[in-house]
Amino acid sequence: MEIVGIDVGFGFTKAYNGKNSVIFKSLIGDATDIQFRSFLGEESSTSNLHITLNDKSYFLGNYAEQQSNIAEFTLDQEKLIENFVKILAIAAAGICCNTAGPINVVTGLPVGYLKRDSRRLKEMIQGIHEITFHTANGRDETKRIHIDKIHVIPQPIGSIFNLIFDEFGKIKDKNLASQKLGVVDIGFKTTDFSIFDHLQYIERGSSTMDTGISKCFSVFANKLRQESNINIELYRIFKFVKSGMIKIKGKEYNITNLKKRVYTHAASAIASDLNRLWENDWDIDTIILSGGGSVELSEYLSPNIEGNVIPIPKDVDARFNNVQGYCKFGKYKWGNTKLTQDPKTNPENSTASQTTDESTDDAESTDHKEEKAKGLSWLRRQN
Ligand SMILES: Nc1ncnc2c1ncn2[C@@H]1O[C@H](COP(=O)(O)OP(=O)(O)OP(=O)(O)O)[C@@H](O)[C@H]1O
Ligand SMILES: [Mg+2]
Repeated sequence: MEIVGIDVGFGFTKAYNGKNSVIFKSLIGDATDIQFRSFLGEESSTSNLHITLNDKSYFLGNYAEQQSNIAEFTLDQEKLIENFVKILAIAAAGICCNTAGPINVVTGLPVGYLKRDSRRLKEMIQGIHEITFHTANGRDETKRIHIDKIHVIPQPIGSIFNLIFDEFGKIKDKNLASQKLGVVDIGFKTTDFSIFDHLQYIERGSSTMDTGISKCFSVFANKLRQESNINIELYRIFKFVKSGMIKIKGKEYNITNLKKRVYTHAASAIASDLNRLWENDWDIDTIILSGGGSVELSEYLSPNIEGNVIPIPKDVDARFNNVQGYCKFGKYKWGNTKLTQDPKTNPENSTASQTTDESTDDAESTDHKEEKAKGLSWLRRQN
């Protein structure tokens, strides 16, 4: 049984199955008829994403940005679930996986929408889908994606699982697993806060705020509109942010200073949310910064946060932290390594590993028992 983590974020859609990683902008556009292809640019599995799903064709990600007449993204949770999640998730699964057999999916929702949207999210993507990938050389490949079981967890918990579990879903960091952890996941739209104490999810310290990077991008876009009279869509700002230079109609605009001011402001807003939310949780052992936005804000954020903050490694793309954790958790939940371990050689005889010898295809009630035995019964709360 293949297990895949899927994270449909407001900025980027990510998928990971332990081998393949997929990332593309959460951008959907109409499929136009391209009469001439130059084949000079770089080719990757996500550079020319043209798909057909349920008799409708779309360009996705960068391809939509470059070639569609109308490319759409959303910053609205309702719209994301209704109009975007299915297309983006099935496309990501289709690129990531190479099987027509059933796959199990772990995915996430912002903490604040977990209760409201879990069921709908599952209904959107569960079942059998046929998706066609149209390649630039005219060859089409139709894939059957059969999503069997789906487990939805709070998004930032993915980042914790990514640190705690190894690729096989075994606990690799027992020290972290036995701590009280706070995670701050800064994405494109949302900043999610969550507390995980000895492998228990703590609702009280978990919340979703609208303080993602897109707020900063809106300030850049407003300023640039005032100066150039051009309305810049937020998803077109990613590629200019690093250099701070943007060329509009031949004229260069430097947003470096503005960026510093805006990021400083955003970081202090996030830090004060954190201090308020975790006021009584002064016993947090370790704070984990995660999500793509944390890379950009880390230098402004760290001085504002009191506590033991794990520095963001320079060589990893923090946008993948949640989805990698989803996949690892899927391996833990449905994988079979835990079932065959000799107790003497099994390194973790902790709360999270006391499993029963169940097959992976058992009914939900068995899942329930398994999770209870692992001390992770909270994970079913939202079902
Ligand atoms: N190489 C990169 N390319 C583009 N953006 C990057 C890169 N590295 C970091 N970022 C930052 O990552 C952010 C997106 O992070 P992430 O993928 O975690 O968000 P998301 O999950 O799509 O959003 P949300 O959690 O709000 O739904 C961007 O806003 C950008 O600031
Ligand atoms: Mg995210």
